[in-house]
Amino acid sequence: SKITLSVIKADVGGFVGHGSVHPKMLEKAEEMLKEKGKDLLVDCFVTNVGDDINLIMTHKEGINSEKIHTLAWDTFLSCTEVAKSLKMYGAGQDLLSDAFSGNMKGMGPGIAEMEFEERPSEPIVIFMADKTEPGAWNLPLYKIFADPFNTIGLVIDPKMHSGFRFEVFDLIKDKKVTFACPEELYDLLIFLGASNRYVVKSIYTKEGEIAAVSSTQKMNQMAGRYVGKDDPVLIVRCQSGLPAVGEVLEPFANPHLVAGWMRGSHYGPLMPVSQKQALPTRFDGPPRVIAMGFQLANGKLHGPQDLFADVAFDMARQKALKVADYIRQMGPFEPHRLPLDEMEYTTLPGVMEKLKGRFEQC
Ligand code: 13P
Ligand code: 13P
Ligand code: MG
Ligand code: MG
Ligand code: MG
Ligand code: MG
Repeated sequence: SKITLSVIKADVGGFVGHGSVHPKMLEKAEEMLKEKGKDLLVDCFVTNVGDDINLIMTHKEGINSEKIHTLAWDTFLSCTEVAKSLKMYGAGQDLLSDAFSGNMKGMGPGIAEMEFEERPSEPIVIFMADKTEPGAWNLPLYKIFADPFNTIGLVIDPKMHSGFRFEVFDLIKDKKVTFACPEELYDLLIFLGASNRYVVKSIYTKEGEIAAVSSTQKMNQMAGRYVGKDDPVLIVRCQSGLPAVGEVLEPFANPHLVAGWMRGSHYGPLMPVSQKQALPTRFDGPPRVIAMGFQLANGKLHGPQDLFADVAFDMARQKALKVADYIRQMGPFEPHRLPLDEMEYTTLPGVMEKLKGRFEQC
């Protein structure tokens, strides 16, 4: 019988500011899943990356299950109550339109789910990021599933040699398209390179087996702005015809620039860190990614292994810090600051209004 792995995340209050989650909120999340999910879940694990709570759940309900989504929603509501009682910053910010904290983009919880037949051994890596958006997975997913300089398995593993299919969402037009790789690599890349708009939702083997799924979702127009795009998660199945765990982690050894730092309005390097180091404070960042490894056994989550705790990622962290220092010097200038139409909030209309009449023909 099939098992479903659901990772559902939300920021329902930051401690301190946007840096982390208060331990009492994490306790509440665990208590909720253990009690209310008693007859529903096979297993669960609660963690956080920065100010985002991540609920990792296995069950038999399939994807898009109302029961599972309601459990997650109720859990976030209970955590919001705790956040409110402690006056945490932006309590309930990803759930309610009346809890505005200047961060309208991330008001819907992020969801990544996959249903599959558990293999004789089922190694899984769950990536969770803070201060960035789902487009951050485009470059690593391309490397993991399409670049032989990253994934030697594409060349030497007979089970991987035929490649993978990438399902890509157009977040502006609400359309999706699937590319077969390596045949359509160059077509794929013209879209993936524009990661603020075209985002990988899922990846399948040529046989149709699910390999990866991200929390990318259709954006909703809420309060005049698009929301539901930030601080993403990504599930990747590994080994035996899929990329090895080390191939899945390898792209993060070279931190790439992603959108979402400070006020959701700056580019910065995505720094791979241990869960304990997932505490973005410098200029509310730089953006962080953690990788939790699990072995699934009849739906039980054996783990996590905190994969980026490996000292082999120390150099990546050093490099990310150097890049952070460099790009911070640009202050309010692009390309550190996002283009005007992509910032999470802006003073431009107000400034324009004030200067109305002062613009002359040149
Ligand atoms: P093992 O021979 O230890 O299974 O390793 C295979 C592998 O995936 C190494 O990357
Ligand atoms: P979060 O989406 O993590 O709350 O980030 C808010 C922000 O941009 C802090 O500078
Ligand atoms: Mg926050
Ligand atoms: Mg957020
Ligand atoms: Mg966050
Ligand atoms: Mg944000």
